[in-house]
Amino acid sequence: MNILFAASELTPYAKTGGLGDVLAALPAELRARGHSVAVALPLYRQLRASLAELRRAPLTLTVELGGRALSAPVWQGTTRDGVTLFAIERDEFFDRGQLYGTADGDYFDNAARFIFYSRAVVALALTLEPRPQIIHANDWQAALIPALVRAGRLPFKTALTVHNLAYQGMFPAAEFALTGLPGFYLKPHALEYYGRMNLLKGGILLADALTTVSAGYAREILTEPYGCGLDGALRTRGGALTGILNGIDTELWNPATDPLLAAPYDARRVTAGKRRNKLALLEELGLPLTLAERPLLAVISRLVEQKGIALILRALPLLVERGAGLVVLGAGEAAYEAELRDWARRCPRQVSVSVGFDERLAHRIEAAADIFLMPSRFEPCGLNQLYSMRYGTVPVVRKVGGLADSVADGETGFTFSDYTAEEFLRVIVSALEWYPKAKKWKALRLAGMRQDFSWSRRVPEYEKIYAQLTGTA
Ligand code: ADP
Ligand code: GLC
Repeated sequence: MNILFAASELTPYAKTGGLGDVLAALPAELRARGHSVAVALPLYRQLRASLAELRRAPLTLTVELGGRALSAPVWQGTTRDGVTLFAIERDEFFDRGQLYGTADGDYFDNAARFIFYSRAVVALALTLEPRPQIIHANDWQAALIPALVRAGRLPFKTALTVHNLAYQGMFPAAEFALTGLPGFYLKPHALEYYGRMNLLKGGILLADALTTVSAGYAREILTEPYGCGLDGALRTRGGALTGILNGIDTELWNPATDPLLAAPYDARRVTAGKRRNKLALLEELGLPLTLAERPLLAVISRLVEQKGIALILRALPLLVERGAGLVVLGAGEAAYEAELRDWARRCPRQVSVSVGFDERLAHRIEAAADIFLMPSRFEPCGLNQLYSMRYGTVPVVRKVGGLADSVADGETGFTFSDYTAEEFLRVIVSALEWYPKAKKWKALRLAGMRQDFSWSRRVPEYEKIYAQLTGTA
């Protein structure tokens, strides 16, 4: 199979969340199984800076955008897993400090940026030899692609994966002119949404195949409470929507070989190994080493509503009162950042808050912590609970979306259903009560470590969809 992935993130070069991790791992796994796979990204400043072997390809696309013909030189490289990477250059759009916006909000021209990108991917696909059979678009930034392929009657099948329905690429209708599509695509059967242009909606309605990142989320988003206003559109595609739980990169996230850890460990040495990492982390973060005797809880997250940060703030008094430690790594909404920092200032011997994005620290926290908190309001898949289990860190999660599909209450972690502080506190208390029972706790840890979350288990499900699309099933 020949597949071109279109996405706006790729770990470790350009990442704000799990999307980048998926794009770094799924195409690589498909390639390992013999498929021909490439990924097309905008040439962000971050990509140019971090991917040394990226070279200008002998190809410059011309992309029409709102009546202007813009040139877009293509760069080519190979990811560390051998996947071909195409990066589309247009510095006026992509040579910026961030991928999508700053603390002050989204970039004002995100419609132009990602419509341009989507049009460029389609133009690129038409030049490739052999030609990709499938363009696999991800999230709203690439969701215009199915409409472009349909409108142009182009010889590609399209798949769209929704990683998060809450981000839709919704813009004023006036921006529709940038798409170059015939006017009837700005209608409710395609991109129109209550008088505006909704790129994700267009992708949902027009992609040949539609997937999301867990079976649980695939069911939830057909309902009003989780549908973010698109449950109606999704229901019309019911039959075409498949939920496939994300895998993880088990080499990058392997506690036995992780070069970022103070002391790598495997399941046979989990207790001693994690203790050494815990001491190292406490020291690194300036927390007292005596805290090593207490349970250490962790949060690594975008600091946004989705992630249940409000519940974490509500749980903090209890954690402090019980003498536990809490380590937070995250960035996002200013109010959450400020409130968390305030806790660290008030309780410097128990609470550490690092605001920012730090891959190294994320690995070290996963290795050091005893308990990982993820009380999400909704969670399409969630990767941190998977990384946690792999590192012998027991997840406490809300039973929703991919969290419900991956954490088994009392076996590999702790779960709660209602999004309330009371429920969250109740499960935290049970976790804290299990923690001193060394044998039981170790059993929980080991059960998590034994789970197989590798992509090799998931890829056949994607292969099946590709085969259906190309009529080779
Ligand atoms: P989402 O994509 O919704 O943010 P996921 O759980 O799927 O949630 O993926 C989050 C990814 O981003 C994980 O790889 C996690 O380790 C990483 N991450 C989130 N915040 C930070 C941060 N502040 N520093 C480092 N890594 C982070
Ligand atoms: C999104 C979701 C997250 C998922 C990730 C990768 O960012 O919020 O749950 O794991 O995409 O699919």
